[in-house]
Amino acid sequence: MSVPSPSPSPSPSPSSSAASLSHSAVVGRLRSAGCVFAEDEADLLISTARTPGDLAAMVERRVAGLPLEHVLGWAEFCGLRLAVEPGVFVPRPRSEFLIRQAAALARPGAVVVDLCCGSGALGAALAAALGRAELHAVDVEPAAVRCARRNLASLGGRVHQGDLYEPLPEVLRGRVDVVIASPPYVPTASIGLLPPEARLHEPAVALDGGADGLGVARRVAAGAPRWLAPGGRLLIETGERQAALAAEAVAAAGLDARVAYCEDFDATAVIGTVPAAGRNVAR
Ligand SMILES: C[S@@+](CC[C@H](N)C(=O)[O-])C[C@H]1O[C@@H](n2cnc3c(N)ncnc32)[C@H](O)[C@@H]1O
Repeated sequence: MSVPSPSPSPSPSPSSSAASLSHSAVVGRLRSAGCVFAEDEADLLISTARTPGDLAAMVERRVAGLPLEHVLGWAEFCGLRLAVEPGVFVPRPRSEFLIRQAAALARPGAVVVDLCCGSGALGAALAAALGRAELHAVDVEPAAVRCARRNLASLGGRVHQGDLYEPLPEVLRGRVDVVIASPPYVPTASIGLLPPEARLHEPAVALDGGADGLGVARRVAAGAPRWLAPGGRLLIETGERQAALAAEAVAAAGLDARVAYCEDFDATAVIGTVPAAGRNVAR
């Protein structure tokens, strides 16, 4: 399946020649497996499959419970189509809120770091929104790094493997305009409550944020001042109930912190800003 540099998502065409299984047969199979959006999923599977055999295999993988995006090999995020490989976190629609907030605060040409980048979807979307960006992305998981490299190559983005800021080039210290991060933020005790698609098919390192879900987010906040430029911004996606504690962590790092919430996306972002010169920011 060839998927792509991030490109605007084309509409699916259910009339693909790959369809030897009829559309209604695919819908029926998906519906009997409990897929709520069976019609839409059938359109996407039929338009993505290259051959009838491909389609049959994809339908079976979906029926077996794989996330739709892992079956398709791509996900749509902020209007872009991005490769998503098995074992890599599927970008969630709610993260579009973080990107909208970041895009409103940054300028074209900004130096952007996408920490905990997964497929690289957030960095790709922010770079696309800005038109031009110097983009660096980091993930600890080799599969995510491979996938992000596929997605960010056409944008000139560099993808580094390692723990948070550790693999970033030293030359970025004090030069980063925007750090975005959607770290794992599910409390360990709640992992078992996630839908099976996430629990069984996304790696624990992408989901498990430790006892209160903020283990990684706190380290993202603590490390930010060393990398941010004067006036630079840190945006962390978190859960609504964790927002106050996440904002405390951002403030403890010496940044001006605020919380933004969007009901439509059911999304929460904690936004930190390097204060004007003269205030004490730990570097
Ligand atoms: C919730 S997923 C988000 C992925 C991506 N930002 C998105 O929204 O689609 C969290 C990601 O953080 C990565 N991760 C977890 N701990 C990390 C660490 N210490 N350093 C770098 N990446 C980490 C995981 O491998 C996973 O890809």
